[in-house]
Order: sequence, then C-alpha cells, then structure tokens
Amino acid sequence: MNYRLALRGGDPVRTKPFTAWPIYDEREALGLHRVLESRNWGGYPCPNDLAREFARKFAQQHNARYGVAVANGTVSLELALKAAGIGFGDEVIVPAYTWEGTAAAVLFTGAVPVFVDVDPDTYCLDAALIETAFTDRTKAIIPVHLGFRFTDMDAIMEIAARRGLFVLEDCAHAHGGQWRDKRAGATGHAGSFSFQTSKLMTAGEGGIVITSNIDLADQVIRLANCGRPPRTETRGEPVLGHNYRMTEFQAAILLPQLERLEEQTRLREWNTKHLEKGLKNIDGISLLPRDGRITKQASYQYVFKFHSDEFGRIHRNAFVAALNAEGIPSDGRFYEAVYRSSLFEFAEETYPAWSRAKRGFRCPVAERAGYEESVWLPHQLFLGDENDVDDIVTAIEKIKENVDELIGYEDERIRVQGMARAQRALLESKIPY
Ligand SMILES: Cc1ncc(COP(=O)(O)O)c(C=O)c1O
Repeated sequence: MNYRLALRGGDPVRTKPFTAWPIYDEREALGLHRVLESRNWGGYPCPNDLAREFARKFAQQHNARYGVAVANGTVSLELALKAAGIGFGDEVIVPAYTWEGTAAAVLFTGAVPVFVDVDPDTYCLDAALIETAFTDRTKAIIPVHLGFRFTDMDAIMEIAARRGLFVLEDCAHAHGGQWRDKRAGATGHAGSFSFQTSKLMTAGEGGIVITSNIDLADQVIRLANCGRPPRTETRGEPVLGHNYRMTEFQAAILLPQLERLEEQTRLREWNTKHLEKGLKNIDGISLLPRDGRITKQASYQYVFKFHSDEFGRIHRNAFVAALNAEGIPSDGRFYEAVYRSSLFEFAEETYPAWSRAKRGFRCPVAERAGYEESVWLPHQLFLGDENDVDDIVTAIEKIKENVDELIGYEDERIRVQGMARAQRALLESKIPY
C-alpha cells in the first residue's frame, strides 16, 4: 500500500464492496411470483389485498392505527396535506434543508411553502425559528427527520397545539426510528414515508401515509383512488382524486422488509456508534450531538460536519471526492437550501403560489450544510461489521494526513474527476452505490 491519496494515484483504502442494497431473499422472490401468478397486479380495487396488509402492518409497527400505501413519498405528502384540508392560500412551514419533494408537495396542493432554517445540532427544522415565519395563513408544519436525527417533536407539537396547526412528519429517512415512546410518524397528526430505492425500506418506488385519525385516512384513500370513497359510510365531501395507488408488486416486496427492519435498525445504530468512536478524535470533523429523546435511531444516512479550516482549507467537495476515491461512497451536496435549488427554477406562473413564496429566504445554517459543511454516508455502509466502519475512519485519517495533496486544486475539477474515478472503481468492484 502506498500512502498517496487514491485521488492522486495512490492505492485506495478500500476495494472491497460494502453490503449490497437493497437486501432481498427468497421471500421477495416468492411474493413477486405469487402476485405474477395471481394476475391481480394493480392498485385497484383500492386498497388491494397486499397493499392493505402491508399498510396495516407498517402502521401497527409505527404506532399508528391506519396506513394508506401509495405510489411514492412525494404524493404521500401531498395527499396527507390535501386530506387535512390544506390548499390554495394556505402557508406550510418546511425546513430549508430537505429533499425538494417536501416543498414541491406543498406547491402541488396550491399552498405556499415557507422555508425556515434548520438547527445546527440536527440539521432538522429549528423549532425556535417557527414563530418568526408564522402568519395568519399558516396552517401546517412539515418537520423532516433528516439523515439520522429527529426534529424536536416536543417543541413542534407544543407550537402546533397553541396555534392550531396540522403536523405532518416527513419520515422519508426515519423508518423504524423512535422519538420518546413513539415511532416516527406517530407523534404528529400524520406521517409520510418513502420507499424509493435508497431508502431504509424500498420497493424501488412507493410511499405510505400513517395516522390514527380515521377520517384523515379515509380521505387519503379517496384522493389516491380517483375520488372514490373507501367505505359507504365515509364522511367528507366528494373530491377530484388522482390515481396514486400502490401496486401489488410493490407491496409484495415491502412485506418481507418489514420483518428485517428492527434488526437492520439495531445493526446500523451499533455501527454508527462505533464510527463515532473513531471520528470524534479527528480534528476538523464534528458530530451532530445525540439526543436522549431519540430512543431508536433510524440511520438513513450518517451525517457529520467537515471543517475546512482544519483540513488545509480545501473545500468539502474535494474532501468528498477524495473519500469516494478511497472506496468510501459518500456525498456532500446531498441536499441544498431548497429555495436555491435548480429544481426550483421553474416558471413562476406555472405555480403562482411559488411566486408568492419567493421572499428572499436566507437560511444560513441550511446553506452552510448544503454547500460547505455536511458529509453524508449511506446506510448500507453500516450493515456490515466493525471492519467496514474502521475503513471509513482510516480513509478520513489518511485524507487528513495527506491533505496537502489536495491543496491548490480547483474544487469543481476535483469533484468531477473524483466522482468519475470513484464511480469507475465502484463499478469495477461492484460497490452498489
Ligand atoms: C425528505 C424526503 N421527503 C420526501 C421524499 C420523496 O420521496 P419519493 O422519492 O418516494 O417521492 C424524499 C425522497 O428522496 C425525501 O428524502
């Protein structure tokens, strides 16, 4: 092994693949085959058999009475908001640092997303800033439990009760996580999850709304199923619905994953704790503090902070490129301040609500996290053993010791070259990322 950085032609710390994701076995294969043979493939009648079974089990495992399985985790947000009566003229508070879909779902209802900065300790919505964004049009809050942390749900529920707001937890990263004695999605009035490929449970695509309010659940089904009421006694007005149904193939893939969730959550939690033992000794890396109220940690991505001052003033992107080249899949600009995202550059007149929303948002913590500071490690790195985790620490130590090799290189060039080299290495070694 030579000790040059892999980005500069040295040997990478790691050439072995990490655990492949998604994980499946004969249970998924059998389930898919059964659906195939049943010829009952789609989401209609809604909910169809497996989608109903999956939604019931998922909701039960997440301490909610009802679950409605749908096409993905963007429409699940939209449906829950619409079912709660959010629409044109309303404002919904969302964190500035999240996937664009969180805010897009608000726009799809006709309401205005109002961006509030995130807490530097969690990168989740900063509850202390919500009051500054509140107006008489504010109708809902979407706390996003980002990465491996929870929004302070004690504070959110207190504000919501005082102001009469609807709370929709965006739990796209939080399957199996727990705040105090309740699973993700069960503290707010509803919770939304995604089953997109990278997520902690996946059917390639998919989503679910959970809630303990039967009228809300009924309205979600109605909106997801072309406006049809789920039961003859369903309350509420007729609505124009979408077709956002989950197929039986998706449900068949998700059912066995529910059986693995607890064990995988434990393993990831154990491995991320082990990672912290190594990271905490590296100057220039700081950890998001743990919070005792998170009683089960769902680790969709392990996120830490990179401080350029302690790393020869190289940019975070150069560090991430070097880490990828060392064989550690990682990302920096995983998310950005949504209001600055290129995905939000569509013509204002197509979403008039957005033109109202553009009010010079400035969320410095979100911007620092997105463009300079955060480093994201995907959850499959934590489904192996201690040796896998030790390689991550070794790679970061190696970069730290040889950071001079990265000084003076133009950041973007390093990023592009580094990513191309990393992707080639990953393909060759079949690292599934
Ligand atoms: C925080 C967050 N919310 C919502 C979504 C949307 O989920 P989907 O991709 O299933 O539409 C995602 C997915 O990336 C997400 O990360």
